[in-house]
Amino acid sequence: IISSVKGRRVWDSRGHPTVEVDVILNNGAFGRAIAPAGASRGTREAIDLRDGGNALRGKDVSQALQSVNGPIAKALVGRDVSDQAGADAAMLALDPSPLKETLGGNATVATSLAVLHAAASDVQKPLWQHVSDHYSTKPSLPLPEIQIFGGGAHAGRRVDIQDFMIMVPGASTFNEVMEITNEVYFAAGDIMARKGKLAGVADEGGWWPMFDSNEEALETLVAAIEKAGEKPGERVVISLDIAASEFGKNGTYRLALDDRSMDSAALIDMLGGWLDAYPIASIEDPVGEDDVQGMVEFTRRFGEQVQIIGDDYLVTNADLVKEAAHVGACNAVLVKVNQAGTVSESIDTFKAATAQGWGAVVSARSGETEDTSISHLSTGLGGGQLKVGSFTRSERMVKWNECLRIQDVLGEQSFVGGAPLANTWWG
Ligand code: PGA
Ligand code: ZN
Repeated sequence: IISSVKGRRVWDSRGHPTVEVDVILNNGAFGRAIAPAGASRGTREAIDLRDGGNALRGKDVSQALQSVNGPIAKALVGRDVSDQAGADAAMLALDPSPLKETLGGNATVATSLAVLHAAASDVQKPLWQHVSDHYSTKPSLPLPEIQIFGGGAHAGRRVDIQDFMIMVPGASTFNEVMEITNEVYFAAGDIMARKGKLAGVADEGGWWPMFDSNEEALETLVAAIEKAGEKPGERVVISLDIAASEFGKNGTYRLALDDRSMDSAALIDMLGGWLDAYPIASIEDPVGEDDVQGMVEFTRRFGEQVQIIGDDYLVTNADLVKEAAHVGACNAVLVKVNQAGTVSESIDTFKAATAQGWGAVVSARSGETEDTSISHLSTGLGGGQLKVGSFTRSERMVKWNECLRIQDVLGEQSFVGGAPLANTWWG
């Protein structure tokens, strides 16, 4: 039984305030979680309630904390902690607005995850195991997507494309993914250094993209994979998050780096050219969140060839996932718990996606913390992928390291490997 729900202000990886929630049970069991924060946000995702004004760049969260310590605590104290759906529904009843702007999605997501942690602590199980028991799923260590270069909104728009990542579907264990990623990451750094282009890292720990074109980033990534002793397209493949909503609206896209504008068809042709030229197995938000026709067209042309992930386009919403399948847009979804605002809605989205044969990628935000909930969620739900940023900085590494701790219990053979990409050219 929940005996107290308490919010406090802590600080995220970009130095901004965020919401942490402690849920304490009457038997002393306890759960804690912290809300992450996005920079390239979809317009239909749950709102982070921020104070505005001048102090702390307008980003303070005292109103969100009032939601936690006031109405949310009142609604949750006395409830059975094992009823995650009931706790989440109680918060939705307090705030029926579609974007959770009354309570704040940052208040609801931290509370919802803290309830999940408290429920696991109550039954003395690790979180991944509680998730798998509670939602009847088969746990497995996820296939990581790991950023090598940051870009877009995470790197002052130095290049247009947001994430240049690798996946290692050919690895036989999660450990091996970590080793190969280390080699590729530092090989990329060596190449940048040799060209005099090493300039620190972007928001998620990938190398700062000192490139003259988006293609130069892709060429450098291919060179780094080779320098790491791998043949690009064999064990190691490329994954991109175009985050096209950041540079396009109403079907017009503006590539700042190339100083040119293009319509949806031209963008799709350009990306299609990249799919031919580079070993790309997965691509996220190839067109803007408002470009339904573009997403349908992109999926029609390339859906057999690559994984096409909707992030801003689907905002972790189960109804949008079903609708997208109906019109033939995307074949995978990014699952960000704070886009939905609760654990229950996020897991509904994960399950809606996998039930229709789609991939599901549990994801961090560009603003992160020491919270490792998503490592447990993706492992507990099983069969999926995990995107948390790069291979440096502890708010990222804490997620990979948590998977290694889970691996010690589940065993190396529980790695899902390339299975999530089975319906792409790689599989
Ligand atoms: P965000 O970026 O957390 O800044 O929204 C992550 C993504 O687009 O996948
Ligand atoms: Zn994205």
